[in-house]
Amino acid sequence: MKYPKEYLDEIKTRLKVSTVVSKTVKLKKRGKEFVGLSPFKTEKTPSFTVNDEKEFYHCFSTSEHGNIFDFVMKTQNLRFGEAVKMLSNLAGMQPYTFSKQDLERENKWKIYKSIYQNFSEFYKNELFKNEKSVKAKNYLKERGLSGIEVKNFNLGFVTEDLDYYEKLKKDFDEESIKDTGLFYFDEKRKKYISRFRNRIIFPINDISGNIIGFGGRIIDDNKNLAKYINSPETPFFKKGSNLYNLDKARKLSNKLEDVYLVEGYMDVIGLSKNGIENTVANLGTALTSKQIQILNQFYNHIIICFDGDQSGYKAALRAAENIISELKPDKKISFFLLEKNLDPDNYVNKFGKDKFLEISDQKSKPIHKFIFEHYISHTTESPSSKAIFEKKLREIASNIKDSFVKKYTLEYFLEKVSELTPNINSKFSKNYIKSPKSLAKTKSYYNETKSLKSFEIKEFSFLYTLLAKPKLIRENLHLIDNVKLYSDENKQLFAEILNQSENLLNLDVKKLNVDKNLVNRVMNYASVKHIISKNLNDDQKILEIFTEIIQDLKNYELEQRISELESKFSKDMSENTFNEIKELKKQQKIN
Ligand code: CTP
Ligand code: MN
Repeated sequence: MKYPKEYLDEIKTRLKVSTVVSKTVKLKKRGKEFVGLSPFKTEKTPSFTVNDEKEFYHCFSTSEHGNIFDFVMKTQNLRFGEAVKMLSNLAGMQPYTFSKQDLERENKWKIYKSIYQNFSEFYKNELFKNEKSVKAKNYLKERGLSGIEVKNFNLGFVTEDLDYYEKLKKDFDEESIKDTGLFYFDEKRKKYISRFRNRIIFPINDISGNIIGFGGRIIDDNKNLAKYINSPETPFFKKGSNLYNLDKARKLSNKLEDVYLVEGYMDVIGLSKNGIENTVANLGTALTSKQIQILNQFYNHIIICFDGDQSGYKAALRAAENIISELKPDKKISFFLLEKNLDPDNYVNKFGKDKFLEISDQKSKPIHKFIFEHYISHTTESPSSKAIFEKKLREIASNIKDSFVKKYTLEYFLEKVSELTPNINSKFSKNYIKSPKSLAKTKSYYNETKSLKSFEIKEFSFLYTLLAKPKLIRENLHLIDNVKLYSDENKQLFAEILNQSENLLNLDVKKLNVDKNLVNRVMNYASVKHIISKNLNDDQKILEIFTEIIQDLKNYELEQRISELESKFSKDMSENTFNEIKELKKQQKIN
């Protein structure tokens, strides 16, 4: 039975991995992690690590890996439900009671699974044994698939065995069979007919490996039939929430950094045959945010590799615009566009694994770049075309959920947009520092950008706005109450700005009594410099940007506070600390 995610998350929030593990393993803190002797093996040097931030443990000598539930299941030989009961109790929570609807759904799910399993087994066997399958077998051979791939992916062939429905009926009731969507009623023949007849079937599994649907391909090109069909949506098969081959591909995420997302079943099988098994496919529909969220649980880098034809390109662009909202600071999404009319399956069969990986490494473009390059190539010299271009990019960036990534993506776009208006740019840059560019040429500039922390850059943006619009901020002085800066140098500059200008009444940058480099850094690295310069006369806009910067700074402060409390909680396990964390997390969401 499935526990609601919120309930399991609540247990995880209350119990750190190190708290659970340290009940049976002696742990020592080492940097961000804990280490100890592996509970899975007798050893003298510790190879077992626990990472509270990532919520997992990992044993280097046995490759055992998992979360708190896996840990107690493995070390105490419990089943999942028992582990949940034990840990919820340890976390001081009430045991979870399932409703009547939960039980009914669970029951239906068991039957559904079992019919799909049965169907798959039957027609797998038919592919190998039934002489009517010769054509299908030849077709697979022609496409370069051997018995190994056919077995690995559990392919089958749905022969016209009209008795199979009757066989199923012996074990399952009609209603349940109907709910699977595997058959439809033929009014003429007064019989249930298999939707997939005369098709090769590709079982689609859920994340745990249960079959929840099929894709089916015809074996001779018949213009009247769709080349592929899928199981219809059912309560247990939702196309936008599943990915083909995810159950296998996710297991490789311990070893591999990235995952390929392709269009078709045959692409997955082709890549896999050539040794690229970290591959999934979306199921013949538009890519959804949900699918990206699922992949991000396992992989930090998603490489989208659609067919190298026009429809593949269009699908890629649509996907990019749909899913850019999901970008997170520690996650990457790239696009690998194939040459004319090749798909990943053709490509890898033609050039092999190494070439595929090499070219994908060279050619993959980060999502923001892909989007930018698409739109710039569709922009003409006309002012209105350029205006549409800028509006579109702003709109796309505004959909990004993570406020930090949103800001820097917008900044990336605006930097490019500003190249379209060289004259306007030069007027604004004169207002401030005389020659920041000479610094930009030096190598130290480059090194410094790399070493800057993201909160420092945020602080630069804050200071930049003060310097650019002191009067406006003076009129809204309450905004800077309680703003806390972390970098000592920025703190010093902030204090001096307020001091020299008598709280922004009459600021004169030249008279600031600080190292000029501090001011230069702000002018060079503030990520908002373009957007502020461009909106210098739009006070409303500047205030919006400024408020956002302050919220970011406050969020950073909250994050610091939360992480302090979390490490406190892992030691004292006190309800008070826990509630305080909860409260801060709530504030973080409101901000
Ligand atoms: N698809 C579909 N219905 C179609 C065509 C395609 O649902 N009529 C989906 C299938 O999931 C298919 C994917 O889109 O796997 C990619 O389509 P296509 O590129 O045509 O499939 P390939 O895998 O290249 O097919 P094949 O190599 O078997 O021709
Ligand atoms: Mn294809």
